[in-house]
This record gives sequence, C-alpha cells and structure tokens, in this order.
Amino acid sequence: MHRPRRNRRTPAIRAMIQETILQPADFILPLFIHEDSNDVAIESMPGVTRWSLAGMLSEAGAAHALGIPAVVLFPKIEDALKTPTADESWNADGLVPRAIAALKTAYPSLCVITDVALDPYNSDGHDGIVLHAADGSLEIVNDATIEILCRQAVCQAQAGADIVAPSDMMDGRVAAIRKALDAESFTQVSILSYTAKYASALYGPFRGALDSAPKAGDKKTYQMDPANAREALREAVLDAEEGADILMVKPAIFYLDVLASIRAQSNLPLAAYQVSGEYLMLKSASQGGWIDEKAAVLESLTAIKRAGADMILTYYAKQACVWLSEHEERVAR
Ligand code: PBG
Repeated sequence: MHRPRRNRRTPAIRAMIQETILQPADFILPLFIHEDSNDVAIESMPGVTRWSLAGMLSEAGAAHALGIPAVVLFPKIEDALKTPTADESWNADGLVPRAIAALKTAYPSLCVITDVALDPYNSDGHDGIVLHAADGSLEIVNDATIEILCRQAVCQAQAGADIVAPSDMMDGRVAAIRKALDAESFTQVSILSYTAKYASALYGPFRGALDSAPKAGDKKTYQMDPANAREALREAVLDAEEGADILMVKPAIFYLDVLASIRAQSNLPLAAYQVSGEYLMLKSASQGGWIDEKAAVLESLTAIKRAGADMILTYYAKQACVWLSEHEERVAR
C-alpha cells in the first residue's frame, strides 16, 4: 500500500518536503501617495493608507526593514492637474518624481518601481489618450499614448526609478519605452511589463483609492478579456521580444492558470499582482469573522507563488512578513 501520509507525519518532515516557501523577498508593497501633509485611511480598502510624502517614507522604511525589497508607487493627482493629454504624467517636479527621489535618498537599497499609465493624470480616467467621436463613442488611441508613456518613463528614470512598470496595455509600448530609456542612457532601468492585465471587476477599490475610474466607457479595448488564456501567451511572447525584463499577470488568484502557463512558456522572471479586490475579499471575510485572516492570506500568497510567480505585489506585504516570522511551525517546537 502507498502511504503518502508518511511525508506529512511531523513538522520536521513537512518542513523538508515543503515545495513552496514564502519569504519577505517575494513581496512588493504598493504605496498610494498624494499631495497632502495628512495620511488618510482609504475607505474602499480598510487597513490601507494614502500617504503624504513623509508618511510614505516611514512606511517604505518599515517595509524595507522587514525585508521587503521593493515598493511600487501609485499617485492620486489633484483634479486641477488632470488634462486630456495627461501632461502632468511627465512633469519632472510632479508628485511621483519627488517621491522617487525622496525614497532613493532615504533608502538607497530599496528598489523603487513606478506605474507607467495615464489614468491618474488623464481627465478621462483612461490609461491612454481618449478620442471622443461625434456619436459619443470613445477610442483609446494607441500610438499617441505611447509617446506620452515614453516621456513618463524617462521622467521617472531621471528621478531615480529602478524599474518602470507599464500597466496601460497599449500595443508596442515595451519596445518604445526601452528605446526611449536607452536613448537617454537609462540602459540600467528595468521594465516590468503588465503582460496579461485583465479587464477585471477586482480593480474597483483601487479606483476608489485614487479617484481614477474611467469617466465614460470601460477598459475592454485594451485590458484583456477574462475568458482568454492563449492570448496571454501571445502577449508574453511580444513583451519578451520587445525587451521586458519581468512579466506580470494581474489579478492573481482568479488567473493562476495564466501564471502557470506563462511560467511554463517563458524563462523571464514573473510577477503577480494580488489586486485591491482580492485584498478586500480577504479583508472583509476576516473582519466578518468568517475566515482566519492570517491563514487565508498566507495560503493565497503561497498559491500565487506555487503557480509560478517569483514576486507578488500585495497590500498584505508588511503584514505577511510579520506573520511569516511568527510562523516557524516548521522544525523547532
Ligand atoms: C491603472 C492601474 C489599475 C491598477 C493598477 N494600475 C487600475 C485599472 O487598471 O483600472 C489596479 C490595482 C488594484 O486593483 O489593486 N493603470
């Protein structure tokens, strides 16, 4: 008789046969920032804060001290600065460039990642430039958007970003951003491409946090259809050819099959984004007393890593590091 349970018998044996081990170096912490001296609790994401620059610095320092290697910045931009062409997205004195510089000065060893997309800056709330047709329909214009994205990426690199992360899903943007960065001698700045970003219902709380929901229409002409998996493999091939350093799948838990199949196809490092809706589902269920938050969150992060992610963007990053350090069931007892 085969007895697989022998390998589960004691904590010591389980520790040796454990295939997936989470560690602080797996996590990237998203940070919301704004032009304000207050740190504000985000209503749509209990436990998450929109930071002043000073608050952001102390939060990033605390995360880095726990062993988290990287943060990714998401700004809330004042309405008065939003324009149809998102000019504020490449203002060298803007909020994000100042935040990058402050982070790199305070914590030179912290990896600073920036979001490349126009939605926080664009009066239409779309990731690209919007053309309004006479019949009321919208077109998100690909190539004109890419020009702005390139300016935005170069501006972020100038401020000291280590990695730029285009989340806009325009075609050809990775190659264009690579070329623009190289032309300005930023050959060492990496591109983390949102390769397979789905038009998901799970971004709602994030859009609430940044007030960045589209004013009209939806994102289905650029973000992917949740029904499609082969299309993600095509996007992965293109991003690799265009020079992406790291690929990403987003959201994470509903798309583990996509993560696993990109992992099987590509040798590039792979990231996954546990998005705001995933955070909120775990948080609400645990606040309701219906699930054990620590166990459920660590299980979700383990599942994402098991499916093939090398790194995970998660609002639970700091908390997970604390939980992992408590979680030494492994050998000693
Ligand atoms: C926009 C962007 C979004 C997220 C990250 N970058 C929202 C969107 O595409 O509408 C969502 C992240 C989350 O939900 O946690 N470029």
